[in-house]
Amino acid sequence: MKRRSLLFGTIATYAAGMPTAHAQQPSTYEEAVRLVWRPLDPARGAHELVRAATLAANSHNTQPWRFTLAANRITIRPDLDRRCPAVDPNDHHLFASLGCAAENLVQAAAMLGLSASVVVDATDPGSVVIALDRTAVSNHALAEAITRRQCTRAKYDGTALSSEDLRTIENAGSLCGVECLIVTERSRMEAILDYVIQGNTAQMRDPAFMAELTSWIRFNDAVAIERLDGLAARSSGNPALPTWLARRLLRFVFTEKGEQNKYAEHIRSSAGIAIFVAPHGDKAGWVAAGRAYQRFALQATTLGIRNACLNQPVEVPFLRLQIAAYLGLGDRRPDLIVRFGRGAMLPPSLRRPVSAVIDAA
Ligand SMILES: Cc1cc2nc3c(=O)[nH]c(=O)nc-3n(C[C@H](O)[C@H](O)[C@H](O)COP(=O)(O)O)c2cc1C
Repeated sequence: MKRRSLLFGTIATYAAGMPTAHAQQPSTYEEAVRLVWRPLDPARGAHELVRAATLAANSHNTQPWRFTLAANRITIRPDLDRRCPAVDPNDHHLFASLGCAAENLVQAAAMLGLSASVVVDATDPGSVVIALDRTAVSNHALAEAITRRQCTRAKYDGTALSSEDLRTIENAGSLCGVECLIVTERSRMEAILDYVIQGNTAQMRDPAFMAELTSWIRFNDAVAIERLDGLAARSSGNPALPTWLARRLLRFVFTEKGEQNKYAEHIRSSAGIAIFVAPHGDKAGWVAAGRAYQRFALQATTLGIRNACLNQPVEVPFLRLQIAAYLGLGDRRPDLIVRFGRGAMLPPSLRRPVSAVIDAA
């Protein structure tokens, strides 16, 4: 009881007088990156658990989450103002993103000597409840990887991974009943490339998809550090431009042929592709898929292995059915498709401060 009340104290104190993560507004992209991705500080207690959660992968970097702290639990709720109805009409990616955040929180809790159990409350609109309790401080290699992980949308170096590394990342990605299918045969990777290209082409021809995507692109550093969300040009390996100019140039530089060549280069330079398949297609399953992917990405980071999502075939309904059949998934749907391999990092993406995503209990 005494140990339990200590934990209550930690979180309750924090909830009462929360410090902000970015006390000052960063003036350059580099400064923002230093602030956002600074190492976790266990001495800051619950603050760092929420900050760790916000550093997770999330679709379009919309950061679609709100956090509530109460005694011995943290609840993550969807921020429905940050939905992406064109690419994600049923909120699959939104709940997978909450799963990614939950997994970072679970790993960071271990660093603070807290055990975490995750329950999905499917009552509309759904939430993820993480109950915390004291335990011994355990190995926290995955927690240390939280501030070094990224989705690296670049060409990799083409080298194969050892079977030991493949087994290690596959095990990390097999969590809560989620299957992590690893594909390394070149002929199967080419077949998946074909689905990615078909999906990408369908999306580029969809005005609603393009309008939504463009609204989340931060075309230059000034906008990226003002908003602290979305897809920063730098973190996608693109040059920064004034927004008005970038919008005009987009249809000339963002062409179907150019994108096809880019994805072919990206997949052919990768060591393999991982497909995450949850046991059931509901909010709990989507959260589980997100958790499994995030743990996979953290484990890969500890081994110096990069990853990037290629979700076009799961986002376009007719292709989702086709690729599920190709992969022999029966009634299950593929949740996330991720390439991996070795290569250099790109500039990291940004995040809003903890103070912007917390609600009073
Ligand atoms: C559910 C989900 C779906 C995603 N889909 C894609 C995708 O199709 N293509 C892509 O390039 N990145 C995708 N991402 C990666 C996000 O864009 C990325 O996590 C976000 O921009 C933040 O960047 P970071 O992970 O490097 O911090 C996805 C991430 C999640 C969690």
